[in-house]
Amino acid sequence: MSSVVQAAPNNVLAPADTVLSAEGLVKRFGGITATNNVTLHLKRGARHALIGPNGAGKTTLINLLTGVLQPTEGRIVLEGQDITTLAPHQRVSRGMVRTFQINQLFDTLTPLETLALTVSQHRGLGSKWWQALGRNKDVAERCEMLLEQFHLTSVMNQETRLMAYGKRRLLEIAIALACEPRVLLLDEPVAGVPAGEREELLQTVGALPDDVSVLLIEHDMDLVFSFAKRMTVLVNGTVLTEGDPEEISNDPQVKAVYLGHGEQGGGHAGAAAHAGEANHG
Ligand SMILES: Nc1ncnc2c1ncn2[C@@H]1O[C@H](COP(=O)(O)OP(=O)(O)OP(=O)(O)O)[C@@H](O)[C@H]1O
Ligand SMILES: [Mg+2]
Repeated sequence: MSSVVQAAPNNVLAPADTVLSAEGLVKRFGGITATNNVTLHLKRGARHALIGPNGAGKTTLINLLTGVLQPTEGRIVLEGQDITTLAPHQRVSRGMVRTFQINQLFDTLTPLETLALTVSQHRGLGSKWWQALGRNKDVAERCEMLLEQFHLTSVMNQETRLMAYGKRRLLEIAIALACEPRVLLLDEPVAGVPAGEREELLQTVGALPDDVSVLLIEHDMDLVFSFAKRMTVLVNGTVLTEGDPEEISNDPQVKAVYLGHGEQGGGHAGAAAHAGEANHG
C-alpha cells in the first residue's frame, strides 16, 4: 500500500517507482481507434516489452509517448510531470529517447561522425562537433565508449550507407544512448536484421545500462523473452494483459491471439515460431 503514491485524475494509481506512465491514452484516426484507453506504467530500471499482432497500436503508443502524435484523450506522465503537450525535443531533453522501427541514419556520415554530432549537440556544443571531437576530450571519450559498447569500433570510419544492416541498427541505439536517456523506447530493433547479425544485437540490447528504463517493442520472441522482466500485450489498441514472462507465455488468451494456438507446456520457443508466422508471414 505504501508504494502507491501518485494519483492520476482518473483514479488510476501508479506505483511509486514509476518513471513513465501512459494514463487512459486514446488515439483515433478518423474512424480507427488505434489506441483504446491504454494505461501502462514503466518502472525505474524496467526491462518491459510491448508485444502484440501487426496493427495492434504499438508504434502509435510510442508515437504518443514521444510526442510525435497528440492523444485524443488521456495523459502522459514522465517522472511525476505531465508532459502530454510537450514537443518531442522537449521530451528528449527530459530524458525520454526513442529509436525508430525504420532505419533513419545520415547515410554519408560515419558512425564516429554521427556519434560526435549527437554527443556534442546533446552537450550544448552545437554543430561544432568536428572541433569538439578534436579538442574536447570528454566528447571523444564518450564516442569511443559508445563505439565499443555497440560493437562499432571496427566500422567507425565507414560511411553508414556501406555498413551491414545489423551494424546500422546498433548505431541507431548508440545514437539514442548518446542522448543520455533515463527512458529508452526501442521500436523493433531486430526487425530486418539477418540471422547472422542478430546475436550481436540481442547481446547489446541485453547489456544496456541498468539505470536506463527500457520499453521494447519487438516481434522477435527470442529477444522479447531473453530481455523482458515485464510484458504488456496489446491487441486492437487495447491492453489484453500485463505480467511477467511466465504469466504471459502461459496465458491462454495471449496464445490465442498472438503467441499461437494449442501450445503445450507453456514454453515460448514453439509459440515464437507461430508468432513469427502469424505476424510476418
Ligand atoms: N497516421 C495514421 N493514420 C491513420 N491510421 C493509422 C495511422 N497510424 C497508424 N494507423 C492505424 O492504427 C493502427 C495501429 O497501427 P500501429 O502502426 O500503431 O500498429 P503496430 O502495433 O505498431 O503494428 P506493427 O507490428 O505492424 O508495427 C493500424 O490500424 C494502423 O493502420
Ligand atoms: Mg509498429
